[in-house]
Amino acid sequence: MNALHRDLTRLVPRIEAEDRAKVDADPRRLRFHLMPPTGWMNDPNGLCWYRGSYHVFYQYGPFDPNGGVKFWGHWSSPDLLHWTQQPVAMCPDQTWDIHGVYSGSALAEDDALYLYYTGNVKYAGDYDYINTGRGHNLALAISRDGVQVDTKQLLMENKDYPDDLTCHVRDPKVWKQDGMYYMVLGARTKCDRGEILVYESADRLHWKHINTITTPEVFGYMWECPDLFCVDGQYIVAMSPQGVTREGNKYQNVYSCGYFPLYGDFRGEYTLGEYIEWDTGFDYYAPQTFEAPDGRRIAIGWMGMPDADYTNPTAAENGWQHGMSVPRELHWTGTCLTANPVRELDALHRSRRTLSFDGVAQCELAAGADIRIHNRGESLHLMLGDAAAVEYGHGLLTLTLTETSGSGRTQRVAEVDHLSELRILADTSSLELFVGGGEQVMTTRYYPSGPVSLRIGGQGEAELYDMDAMELAY
Ligand code: FRU
Repeated sequence: MNALHRDLTRLVPRIEAEDRAKVDADPRRLRFHLMPPTGWMNDPNGLCWYRGSYHVFYQYGPFDPNGGVKFWGHWSSPDLLHWTQQPVAMCPDQTWDIHGVYSGSALAEDDALYLYYTGNVKYAGDYDYINTGRGHNLALAISRDGVQVDTKQLLMENKDYPDDLTCHVRDPKVWKQDGMYYMVLGARTKCDRGEILVYESADRLHWKHINTITTPEVFGYMWECPDLFCVDGQYIVAMSPQGVTREGNKYQNVYSCGYFPLYGDFRGEYTLGEYIEWDTGFDYYAPQTFEAPDGRRIAIGWMGMPDADYTNPTAAENGWQHGMSVPRELHWTGTCLTANPVRELDALHRSRRTLSFDGVAQCELAAGADIRIHNRGESLHLMLGDAAAVEYGHGLLTLTLTETSGSGRTQRVAEVDHLSELRILADTSSLELFVGGGEQVMTTRYYPSGPVSLRIGGQGEAELYDMDAMELAY
C-alpha cells in the first residue's frame, strides 16, 4: 500500500477520536441501528458472513457529515446484535479510486473475502457529468482475515463497458452460482435509460458481458445499486432507479428503490414482473441483500436518501448523519416479497406489555420500542408523542411528521387494502413500519422533542416491548 493509504488510515481514527464526545452527546444517536462513528454514512456495501462474523461495510465520509469523499467503513458482528467497529476497510488511495471508493459487494470464499467496488474518478475540465466526466472503474480488493485489505486491483474501466453507455456504470454485486461467478452492474445509457449489465466469469477476474436487464419502456435514466438473487424459488432483480417521476402515491421520493420478479433466465431470455417499491417511507435507498449462514436472505438499506432537500439536524449539531435500516429477512409470497426485522432483534426485548384498546388508549414508550398492533377496526389512529401520526382508513396508510420532527418533510402515503397487523420499530430518531406481515414497509428518520408517549385510537390490541440498545463497540 502507498503513502496516501498510510496517511489516510492514520487520519481517520484521529478524526473519529476527536469527534467522539460531540457525537456521543447526541440524544438522537440510534440504539439498535448501525451509524457512522462520525461524519456521513450512505449505502451498505459488502454485506456477508465470513469466517464466523457478519460484515457490514458502508459508504463512509469521515471528514464531512454532509458527504465528501467516500471510504468503506466497516462494522462486524457474530450475531447481528453485538457490533465492533473495524478500521476503515478501504480509502481512496489509487489513481482509479481517488475521488471515492464507491459501492460494491463481497464474495466470501474459503480462502479470502473478495470485495468488488467502483473506483470513482472525477475528471476536471470540460468533461460533461453524464458522458465523459467520470471514470467508473471496476476494482477488486482482497482480504484474508476479513478486516485488513491486502491488495487492490483494477479490473475494468469505462472503455471496457458496452459502447452505448454513459460514464455512469457502477455498484457491482457479485455472487457464485453453478460453479461460475456472476456480477450485475448498474448503468445509464446514452439515451438516458437505466439498465443492469450481467457479467459472467470463471476466475473472478476476467468478466464477460452476457446479458442486459431492462424494462421494455424506459423506467428512469440510471439504475444504481443493482442486486439479483433467488428467494423461496423466485428470482428477484432489485435496483435503485433514478429519474422515475411520481405517479399518485407511487414513487414519492426523489429516488425510488424497488424490485422486479424475474421469470426465465437472467443469463438469457427473461421477462420482468411488476416493479414493487421496497419501502414507501422517506428514508430508504440502495439496499443490498446477502445470504446468512442458515440460508436466510437478508436485506439492509441505507436509512437516508441522496439529493434529499433536507439534512438531519444531527449533521449540523453533532457532526454525524444517517444510519442503516435493521436487517430484514425476505420471503416471496407468490406475488411480492415480505421484509421483516430479523428474529435476532427479539433478544433486545426488555419487557412486554399489552394494551387493549376500544376507543383511545395511551402509554409511555421507552427510547427504543417494538410495537405490534393487531387491528380489528376499519380505521386506526396512532400518535407518537407530538412528533408523528400514523393513520389508517379507506385503504390508505398515512405517515405524518410535523414540520419540526420531520425536518420539513410532512407526509407519505401507502395503499393498503386491509390492515390487520402493523409493527413499528421506534428508535430514538427513526421509525420503521412493517405493514401486514412485511408486505409493505415505511422507513423514516424523525426527531421527537422529548420522551415519546403512544396514543392509539381504534379497536384492537397492542403488544409493546421496550428495547435494549445493541452493543456498538467503537
Ligand atoms: C447510491 C450511490 C452509488 C454510488 C455511491 C456513492 O447512493 O450513488 O451509486 O456508488 O452512492 O457513495
